Amino acid sequence: MLKVVEARDYKDMSRKAANIISAQIILKEDSVLGLATGSTPIGAYETLVHWCDKGDLDFSKVRTVNLDEYVGLPAFHEQSYYYFMRKNLFEKVNIDLSNTHLPDGTNENAEQECKRYHDVIESMGGIDLQLLGIGNNGHIGFNEPADTFANWVHKVELTDSTIEANSRLFNSKEEVPTSAYTMGIGEIMSAKKILIIASGKAKAPIIKEMIEGPVTPQVPASILKFHNDVTLIADKDALSLLSK
Ligand code: GLP
Repeated sequence: MLKVVEARDYKDMSRKAANIISAQIILKEDSVLGLATGSTPIGAYETLVHWCDKGDLDFSKVRTVNLDEYVGLPAFHEQSYYYFMRKNLFEKVNIDLSNTHLPDGTNENAEQECKRYHDVIESMGGIDLQLLGIGNNGHIGFNEPADTFANWVHKVELTDSTIEANSRLFNSKEEVPTSAYTMGIGEIMSAKKILIIASGKAKAPIIKEMIEGPVTPQVPASILKFHNDVTLIADKDALSLLSK
């Protein structure tokens, strides 16, 4: 069941999301958190860092698996998701870095890397709480619109609209990697709980499609309606096109 929680604005969405993540860690100190990158979760991560600083939250036993990573970017590249996670969260909380996992974008052997990463997630016993953003075209992780839902970790060719959207973070569009490793719909849907967050008017059309449209691999996020514990926290702007 998909539950929709309306937030006033980005800050409110971020605090509400951080509250849910924080409750998860309090209830299970060695939780496996599925984490996301992009602009949307930054405020939630900042809030978690603040609560950890105050001593209200303890990451020492928390384990994490990230959704995705660009193929070809080394870990020290400022646009790699590994770098993003270290900068926005891992270096700022008391997490044990050996408990944090991302696909290895420098492994050119896609088959090997996809299997390795799938096995990492399995060996941790699956994901307790998966945090998701949503791409303008409905992608989750880097599961792009396609003819079928891809089950497990796989290598994906990024669509032009995703490359365009993500180019704002690179010097030029040409520098954006054209492929990525991503968890599949199978690993995401196997998470015990899912929290998806969205903010701003630009996301309103895709949020409407995800909620009111049919379940289709052309809108990968639409599959979330089949999960039994998914919460969307979105601000008023992102919900502004919903019919009710
Ligand atoms: C990126 C990521 C997604 C993210 C999405 C939206 O390409 N792979 O995990 O949810 O795009 O990003 P943003 O939050 O910046 O809008």
